[in-house]
Amino acid sequence: MPLGSEGYAIIDLPDVAPDILPSYDDCPVDEYMGNGTRFKRFTQYRLRARDDDNWSFERLPHRDYTTYKKFNAVGGGIRRVYEPIQVDFTPLIRAGISGLGLDRSEDWQINVHQNRTRAEDGRPGPLTPEGVHHDGHEFVMIGILNKVNVAGAVTRLWNPGADEPFWSGTLEPGKAVLLDDRALAHDVTDVRSADGGPGHRDIVIIAFSRWAEKWYGDEHDAAALAEQ
Ligand SMILES: [Fe+2]
Repeated sequence: MPLGSEGYAIIDLPDVAPDILPSYDDCPVDEYMGNGTRFKRFTQYRLRARDDDNWSFERLPHRDYTTYKKFNAVGGGIRRVYEPIQVDFTPLIRAGISGLGLDRSEDWQINVHQNRTRAEDGRPGPLTPEGVHHDGHEFVMIGILNKVNVAGAVTRLWNPGADEPFWSGTLEPGKAVLLDDRALAHDVTDVRSADGGPGHRDIVIIAFSRWAEKWYGDEHDAAALAEQ
């Protein structure tokens, strides 16, 4: 297992380009998750190992996002319409690929979720309304890029069926957690305002699946929508 026996790792992210943080300011509201506290963009790529030890990123035609209800009881089983990401997260994704030691013998497909969650007094931002869950992919990376006047947002990692998390921690900007998504479940506690005024937390989530497993396209989406 690339992530060792515990199935997770915390890594440092490279410094981000100047356009990355401002790009969170105009993310449209997520109509499906977070009750108006989440703002989001979404993009998908195909990754191919290159001869020079690097990876090429092919941005895939934009699609609605669809996942199975078994992985997300709140947002699964429906088509979720999001605007595409407008900035380049690939330097951060490359850091995740290195940390995962991604298998270079196959192509991979990634879903990239750019999420801002806002909170204010009396109105926390729920990060995982679906509860303790697996995203359903082989690996998941959650990178924290910015936190402004927020508390809470404790990331928790669970062995399947356990009563308590085996690890919990508050990830600061510049850090990411890499997860073996099949071995571990995860959740994150709500974002709260630190002083009662408005606050926000900006993250990027990358879900990694082998291209051969067909997580992208009509066939996947039809199967996810048909699941009851
Ligand atoms: Fe998740």
